[in-house]
Amino acid sequence: MSSESDLITVPILGKETVKVGFGLDEYVATEILKEFQSSTYVVITDSNIAPHHLEPFERIFRDTIKKNGAQSRFLSYIIPPGESSKCRATKAEIEDWMLSQSCTRDTLLIAMGGGVIGDLVGYIAATFMRGIRFVQMPTTLLAMVDSSIGGKTGIDAPLGKNLIGAFWQPLRVYVDLLVLHTLPPRQIINGLAEIIKTAAMWNEKDFQLLENNSALLIEEIHKPAVSGEYKFSKIKDLLQKIILSSIRTKCEVVTLDEREGGLRNLLNFGHSIGHAYEAILYPQILHGECVAIGMMKEVELARHLGILKPNAVGRLAKCLVSYNLPVSVNDPKIKKYAGFKTCPVENLILTMAVDKKNQGTKKRVVILKAIGETYEKHATVVSDDDIRFVLSSDVKVDNFTENSLDVVITPPGSKSISNRALVLAALSQGTCRLTNMLHSDDTQFMMSALESLGAAKFSWEDNGETLVVEGSGGKMSAPKDALYLGNAGTAARFLTGVSALVPTQDKEHGVVLTGNHRMKVRPIGPLVDALRNNGCTVEYLEKEGSLPLSTSSSTGLKGGVIELAATVSSQYVSSILMCAPYASEPVTLKLVGGKPISQLYIDMTIAMMASFGIIVEKSSSEENTYHIPRAKYQSPSKYEIESDASSATYPLAIAAITGTKCTVPNIGSASLQGDSRFARDVLKPMGCLVEQTANSTTVQGPPKGQLKPLESIDMETMTDAFLTASVVAAVSSNAEGDPITRITGIANQRVKECNRIAAMVHELAKFGVRAGELEDGIYIFGQDYKTLKSPTDGVYTYDDHRVAMAFSLLALLTPSPTVVIDKACVEKTWPYWWDVLKQSFKVSLYGSTVEQVEQQNPLSKNASIILIGMRGAGKTTIGKIISKQLNMKFIDLDEWLEDRLAMPITQVIFKLGWDAFRLEEHKLLREFIQERPYGFVAASGGGVIEMNDSRKLLENYVKSGGIVLHVHRNIDHIVSYLSKDSSRPAYKDQENIRDVYARRHEWYRQCRSHYFISPVLDERVVEEKIEYSMSRFLEVITGKSQSLQKLKEKKRSAFLTLNFPDVQQALPLLNDVTLGCDAVEIRVDHLKDPKGKNGVPTLDFVAEQVALLRCHTHLPIIFTVRTKKQGGLFPDDKEADALELILSAIRYGIDYVDVELGWSIESITKIFEHKRNTKLLMSWHDLSGTWSWASPQEWMQMIDLASSFADIIKLVGTAKDIKDNLELENFRKSVTSTMKIPLIAINMGGKGQLSRVFNKFLTPVTHPDLPSKAAPGQLSVKQLNEALALIGEIVPKNFYVFGKPISHSRSPVLHNTAYKLLGLPHSYEAYETDTVEEVEGILRSPDFGGANVTIPYKLPIMQYMDDLSHEARFFGAVNTVIPSMKEGKLHLRGDNTDWRGIYDTFTAALDGMSLAESSALVIGAGGTSRAAIYTLHRLGVSQIYLVNRTLANSYAVQNVFPPEYNIKVLDADKVTSEDLNGVSIASAISTVPADKALPESVDRLVKALIATGDRQSIFLDMAYKPLHTPLMGVASEHGWRCSSGLEVLVRQGLASFQMWTGMNPPFSPVYKKVIE
Ligand SMILES: NC(=O)c1ccc[n+]([C@@H]2O[C@H](COP(=O)([O-])OP(=O)(O)OC[C@H]3O[C@@H](n4cnc5c(N)ncnc54)[C@H](O)[C@@H]3O)[C@@H](O)[C@H]2O)c1
Ligand SMILES: [Zn+2]
Repeated sequence: MSSESDLITVPILGKETVKVGFGLDEYVATEILKEFQSSTYVVITDSNIAPHHLEPFERIFRDTIKKNGAQSRFLSYIIPPGESSKCRATKAEIEDWMLSQSCTRDTLLIAMGGGVIGDLVGYIAATFMRGIRFVQMPTTLLAMVDSSIGGKTGIDAPLGKNLIGAFWQPLRVYVDLLVLHTLPPRQIINGLAEIIKTAAMWNEKDFQLLENNSALLIEEIHKPAVSGEYKFSKIKDLLQKIILSSIRTKCEVVTLDEREGGLRNLLNFGHSIGHAYEAILYPQILHGECVAIGMMKEVELARHLGILKPNAVGRLAKCLVSYNLPVSVNDPKIKKYAGFKTCPVENLILTMAVDKKNQGTKKRVVILKAIGETYEKHATVVSDDDIRFVLSSDVKVDNFTENSLDVVITPPGSKSISNRALVLAALSQGTCRLTNMLHSDDTQFMMSALESLGAAKFSWEDNGETLVVEGSGGKMSAPKDALYLGNAGTAARFLTGVSALVPTQDKEHGVVLTGNHRMKVRPIGPLVDALRNNGCTVEYLEKEGSLPLSTSSSTGLKGGVIELAATVSSQYVSSILMCAPYASEPVTLKLVGGKPISQLYIDMTIAMMASFGIIVEKSSSEENTYHIPRAKYQSPSKYEIESDASSATYPLAIAAITGTKCTVPNIGSASLQGDSRFARDVLKPMGCLVEQTANSTTVQGPPKGQLKPLESIDMETMTDAFLTASVVAAVSSNAEGDPITRITGIANQRVKECNRIAAMVHELAKFGVRAGELEDGIYIFGQDYKTLKSPTDGVYTYDDHRVAMAFSLLALLTPSPTVVIDKACVEKTWPYWWDVLKQSFKVSLYGSTVEQVEQQNPLSKNASIILIGMRGAGKTTIGKIISKQLNMKFIDLDEWLEDRLAMPITQVIFKLGWDAFRLEEHKLLREFIQERPYGFVAASGGGVIEMNDSRKLLENYVKSGGIVLHVHRNIDHIVSYLSKDSSRPAYKDQENIRDVYARRHEWYRQCRSHYFISPVLDERVVEEKIEYSMSRFLEVITGKSQSLQKLKEKKRSAFLTLNFPDVQQALPLLNDVTLGCDAVEIRVDHLKDPKGKNGVPTLDFVAEQVALLRCHTHLPIIFTVRTKKQGGLFPDDKEADALELILSAIRYGIDYVDVELGWSIESITKIFEHKRNTKLLMSWHDLSGTWSWASPQEWMQMIDLASSFADIIKLVGTAKDIKDNLELENFRKSVTSTMKIPLIAINMGGKGQLSRVFNKFLTPVTHPDLPSKAAPGQLSVKQLNEALALIGEIVPKNFYVFGKPISHSRSPVLHNTAYKLLGLPHSYEAYETDTVEEVEGILRSPDFGGANVTIPYKLPIMQYMDDLSHEARFFGAVNTVIPSMKEGKLHLRGDNTDWRGIYDTFTAALDGMSLAESSALVIGAGGTSRAAIYTLHRLGVSQIYLVNRTLANSYAVQNVFPPEYNIKVLDADKVTSEDLNGVSIASAISTVPADKALPESVDRLVKALIATGDRQSIFLDMAYKPLHTPLMGVASEHGWRCSSGLEVLVRQGLASFQMWTGMNPPFSPVYKKVIE
């Protein structure tokens, strides 16, 4: 308990209302009973708080009543915790209870709780009997500093938070710091967000206090509470000080403006935008967390408007981050708690529109001018465009329109110099003031790490313009936790050196450096080797040669001679140079291994060390050798950091490409930064006027379009500037010869934030610019800027600031605005780059958001693939298929080895022995991984995994994201195959094949990232099927599969559950039972493996089953293992086995796996970490049958849990009553509005059928032909559709074919059959008419569903179309009409599907094989031949031979197509057999009637061409009378596969069916019916 003297009172509105102290219960009871006499005291609190704080208070309160001899009553009421209690219902409930307790007007209400209780109780007090007295006892930090003060009370309405309420002042606010003891850390931090907010907008001193104490506060906040001890005793005074300041500010502001006239609005800093996020992210993300994000966006807005200095933004970000608060929705914390929600920019803006602060339709936001100061004394009016810009993830850059500009730009401080200055100032004695410091992630990580090591203390002056560093003179100690460095490469290298100076007890207590996943593949080996050789213990904790690592040494650096390989990074050299003065002996640093890279950076380090008092001497006798004395650094009192010369290249290059003028005032010829030469060495020779003094650089560009290419330029001394040079080169075309710029010396740019050379080539292509990679550089074909294209999908920026900034320049010249994706990536070095473009270069910028699907890193898709597996498993065959399908180069590592050693492998083994052979094999593998990371597929020898080091190599390759594919097939098949082959060496010691496999099996599993098993099939079909199987496998593992995307776009979708004991049994039924389905689920728990044990099938058996299924269906597969408890057959106690099965399924590229949320979190996490491109369907079955959709807390918790992992969420409840389905619909509606993860939600049981009808996404279905229903209540697709038709969800429509004559048309049969099979209520009829005008009425009738159009109306129908597809325009004819409603109006689209029939027929026949780069033959030159040629080209055919009886017609057709179709007209009378040399036809289409014989010469030519094909070739005869045409006969003789024109017709019809209904139509039953 505290005495009155410890108590601090803060006045508000002229009254002594707020009292702050520690342990106040007794004081509160005494004061209340004395000052506010009443018959009844009522405490309202929530069930989290009551057990801790109500009981002690109640005891004291009652005692005090007794002591006073009073007659008052003490009552309490406890409500459920959480925002959902802040509602009308709870208010009414409390009021009714109070009335039932005969509470009267003299009742005193006591609100004991957080903001929820405070707001609610305050509002009850305001309205109960027209207003009664109340006091606040806030128990959360947020309530203490914010909600309890100021008298705003209220509740939420369904349409928004805090919309109903009143101003009602409490008599007292008792802020008792003791109660914080029990408040969870996340809640404390939530309150800190408001405290930071108040300080940031009102008082810089308070803000500084928060900045300087974050580390201490956070440590204490996260400490576990010890019972009997006040958790915050160590920071009690500090906490009190911070809370008091915040309360004082709030009281001051409220006193000045009680009713929110303007000033009080300033307390809403961060809230305008924060509330918009909160509206979506609540309840997963707390109020304060949303406000933190809101504050960041609002200061970015202030900066964008040119009002707030960039440093202030950096400062706020740093402060928020130091309190573990999120600074953007992309923050991992937000992703973790609410990753399943999206925050579309337009939704945010809409929410902001209802803000109470707004002035009419104009939005108002609190705009800061500096930390602690607002721009105006009220919120500022801001345009929607500016708000949209800061909220958007991407930026649309408009054209550069100024004719003449002369600007001065000071880019942010150099990162290299900032980082060096931080290290040197920290290692120095004394205080150093750094100016123009770069605020970036990199320097941030550096500062935090130096602080954690105790190397320095940092603080800010002049509103963050000056950084004050108090160095410790090299005294440091190892922190407990790892130092996290994100992807900050420089920090990692420098700190690895610095860590070596830290004395540690032993290896367990070393300094640990770690980073993000990209950091974990960046090299650091040579530096570590040098430190190890100097007596330090450095251990790699994960991947050899990269972070994380642990450094320990009892003595620090030994000193003496240190040798270092400096050909990869100069940062290794700088790292050792800077630490060397603190070694035990003077250091002589020798750079070995050839010419050191980036000498300039080494010179920079040496020059800066001199500024800090250490003179490094370069050896005069030995090359690349430096002597560093033993001494202490001395700080200069002030050090100005030069601007970053790499950053300076962007504004200077803008001048170059736009013909304007730009000056950078603090970088000139005296600069030590390599990139300072960019203007002189690159822009000047390209034709710019460059003026450079010692300290400044000015560039004037030539008139637009006159830049000259540079035949060759070595940019080794300014590698980072090559990206800028590349975009300038892209518009440098003023040359006599080829306008090519060749940039060399930049090989290191392949291992930067991304492979920058590849990235530039890839993105330049989007602008229509030709560029390519050189061994150590890039070449670019310059072109007139007027011929640049605007990239259609935006520029991908690879999370690389330089890529983003470079392309923002080229965007200035494109014909229409260009989107640069992920605009925030510039934050690494120039967070306000976009603001510079807008403010200094007058470029208009717009917020933009590109769909996420398109945002995948295009390079990672091309990572090289290594194949492992038994000899005879098919590695070479499969390698070649992959090479063809993915357009990668195939390498057989065995052959490569033989070439290299110039002898066959048998001989290698014979001569050198097995061990030496394995070693050679290992070296080669390593070389492959290092030098061919993209674009290759390599087959390795079967035994490569026998060597431990090779296995390590493969495992690491997988860890770094590479693909190691284990190729396998049934071991019996391998044995029989190998018994026929004797060319390869026998196994060591003549071991038996099965034994070898048994031994290697585990190793293959250990090394593989993926697993491909050939389906066990008849030998004859296996080859064809493998190609198809492989194509599906590759689609998934390379992330190219669009299946989830397609499902999301569909109005409805369904999947079939296959529950056969063996997939083989299902195959004959497969097509029929999957009718109308979009996916098929294999229930692994239903499979019966003869070799399985205890109900668990073997991995290989399941893999073979999936492989079999995969080559028999085109549908994506869902892999499900359900245990008995989960309603399946898998044993409940075999979770580990189920996990193994699922992981293995991911490795063989399964499309979806079903993961039960009932598995242990460890298993789920493991699956998530290994899922790669497989999609996870997280499911939960409430088998208890007790969860309710009406009060869905439990379901919501499941969604929260699932959403951290899920691509799809499936919730299954139980319906006991039809009403349960309606409640489910309400639930579905409320959650799916902002949830980006698709939801399957159904009820089990017969009563739940309606929920299956309502469910739109992937409804589980059954089929009458299946052996048993998978679950009670399951329906078939047909039943679902019938039900939907019954309830009016599917409206019957009429479909037609228009034309004349059409009485023989098979289209009505075709469509009506399909409707019937799928249970659709539609009808289709042939409508013969003499005039096209007659159909207009039909087209416009409300029940019109769509029409096919045939002769003679394919052209006349066009007059009624609102738009035409690309194909309809190309062929100049419409054969399909697709109606839709657009903005309430009927919209008719004309399409042409003539080609679709051919296309679908071919893809069915190809079965996954590819026609890419092959030759085709087209016979005939009539109308159909055009569709044939068009289709073949779309299928990738690169050469089309055209044969026809009339040559002129052939040429006419040839002329219709652009040259890239590569059509060659053959003249049957002139062709010689030599002409056909080397021709090999893979596909042919005949478009001539079968009953008319071809002229003899043409016939001969056609036959000769067919003879060049083989078993893989495909023949399609568009004629179908007779069904087997003579030409088909010829083709079959040569082994071709033949398809008939009738199939084309059916497939074409089904294509229109799909366009109209959105459903997958059944082919075979319809086909059967049509040919009847
Ligand atoms: N009136 C205003 O001026 C104003 C200002 C800001 C916020 N608010 C409102 O405040 C509400 C948020 O307040 P909040 O953040 O305090 O949330 P809250 O009241 O929901 O409390 C947060 C959680 O902490 C628990 N809790 C509270 N005190 C505890 C303690 N001492 N120990 C253990 N657990 C404890 C609660 O049960 C709850 O689960 C929102 O409704 C917001 O609109 C109002
Ligand atoms: Zn708030």
